[in-house]
Amino acid sequence: MKAVIPAAGLGTRFLPATKAQPKEMLPVFNKPTIQYVVEEAVSSGIDDILIITGKGKRSIEDHFDRSFELEYILKNSGKTENLKEIEAISDMADIYYVRQKKQKGLGDAISCAKNHIDGEPFVVLLGDTITQSKIPCTKQLMDTFYRHQSTTIAIEKVPDEKIERYGIIKGSKISESVYKIEDMVEKPPINEAPSNLAITGRYILVPEIFDHIEKVQPGVGGEIQLTDAMRSLDEVYGYVFDGKIYDIGNTVEWLKSSIEIALSDEKVKSELKHYLKELLS
Ligand code: UTP
Repeated sequence: MKAVIPAAGLGTRFLPATKAQPKEMLPVFNKPTIQYVVEEAVSSGIDDILIITGKGKRSIEDHFDRSFELEYILKNSGKTENLKEIEAISDMADIYYVRQKKQKGLGDAISCAKNHIDGEPFVVLLGDTITQSKIPCTKQLMDTFYRHQSTTIAIEKVPDEKIERYGIIKGSKISESVYKIEDMVEKPPINEAPSNLAITGRYILVPEIFDHIEKVQPGVGGEIQLTDAMRSLDEVYGYVFDGKIYDIGNTVEWLKSSIEIALSDEKVKSELKHYLKELLS
């Protein structure tokens, strides 16, 4: 399967940090967010990745490109570990780019992938969402897709106060972690939400989605919503993914992800734990 990573959004929730830099390039601990996303796709067996970019997103392309000058300097100064790390980033996968001309919403961003996808099911990984799990989230989702052969999206139980931020599903449980989805609604007020199961940034879509996106009228926020396009698909399954998801477009979630990921790094773990203990005592 090919993967599509939409990363063209304006990131207004993260202003002013995102005024002159893409939110997908904000570091989480020691790497830019989008590198985690690409690594998830690659570790799920995907080697063809299309990133949807836009104005002001050039640093994303530079990050995944070779940097001969930097490599030369690292080599000559004997920094072999750094050199290996830098080379690995540009060798990870075949990465292609297409620009979304106007930020008209996630559905519109995905429609920019139509020619590249070429009539096959494909994975979508939001460029501002990181997952942490033993088996990569995308791999778990692909396994579920192969069982049902139909659109499959990652869902997660969210507390009431977060419902208004997400697409929410209505569905019936058909096995331990799988729901058959009957309806979806984008960012509902809590009293209109059909459940507390939120759509969380990883999707396997069938190519018919492109026709459905074309028919969608602008919805919440005047944007072409992917959720609205998925509503008219014949069969959609929701998979409660085993792991953690962070939407780094939200400042608090971004901070939490940096702390949690740093706490799992052997080199900084004990110093950070000590600091947090002191801070909170
Ligand atoms: P978000 O809605 O979280 O991103 O989209 P945003 O629009 O940048 O955020 P705010 O609300 O203004 O802060 C989720 C993902 O979809 C991409 C974003 O880059 C993000 O990775 N996206 C969103 C696009 O590629 N194009 C769009 O028109 C909208």
